[in-house]
Amino acid sequence: MSFKESIDLNRLPVHIAIIMDGNGRWAKRRGKLRIFGHQHGVDAVKEVTEACAELGVPYLTLYAFSTENWNRPPLEVNALMGLLVKTLHGELKTLQDNNIRLQAIGDLKSLARGCYPELMHAIRETASNDRMTLILALSYSARWELAMAARNIATQVALGNLRPEDINQERFASYLTTNNIPDPELLIRTSGEARISNFMLWQIAYTELYFTPVLWPDFTKEDLYKAIVDFQSRERRFGMTSEQIKVL
Ligand code: FPP
Repeated sequence: MSFKESIDLNRLPVHIAIIMDGNGRWAKRRGKLRIFGHQHGVDAVKEVTEACAELGVPYLTLYAFSTENWNRPPLEVNALMGLLVKTLHGELKTLQDNNIRLQAIGDLKSLARGCYPELMHAIRETASNDRMTLILALSYSARWELAMAARNIATQVALGNLRPEDINQERFASYLTTNNIPDPELLIRTSGEARISNFMLWQIAYTELYFTPVLWPDFTKEDLYKAIVDFQSRERRFGMTSEQIKVL
């Protein structure tokens, strides 16, 4: 029996975020270069995007490149950027055909020259699609995002457009790259690592975390369904007691 049959479609997570990890190890086990793993990682990206769209998950965020990933060997960074451009170019029609809107979060202007225009093109072209939003976190890190938000808030205060006493959680969140995007309800990390690695530190305050040993290129629709079933088995208390939740 597929895990899909156990999913309650009325209680799907509104937003699933994924730390795609294990491409390098997947390639190494096959005696191949790391980029071979990233290439196969793209197949998993397609699988999971398709599965979320089919189920009706409104938001899917994929952590594709962190600010720290710039420190990898130039050969790998260049190959990843090339892969991103190729995938964006090749998959734009699929996004359109499936009514999927593409968005991106991160220090996007720092992306390699060819990559930024391709990304902006895909974002513009899909802007009015409304079946699902696919968000790529590119040159993203939570500490970068939080520091930028603090800087932009300070600028507004210095200009006299904002009073310190008006800064609350909602206002602060509106300065993050995820403004207007609901917080993830489920965060999946593949490859057996149980770390957050500088990802959405503000947004995951009450997110359910799911760690799986499956390496990203091996991650299938069935693995996603399994994670969702696990998510639906959890009691989400948001700081309240179990008894309080039951009467809500
Ligand atoms: C982590 O595995 C993966 C990445 C840093 C890159 C993820 C990129 C892709 C899946 C391909 C491009 C994506 C899109 C959206 C087109 P790792 O290299 O850290 O693996 P390791 O931990 O085994 O070394």
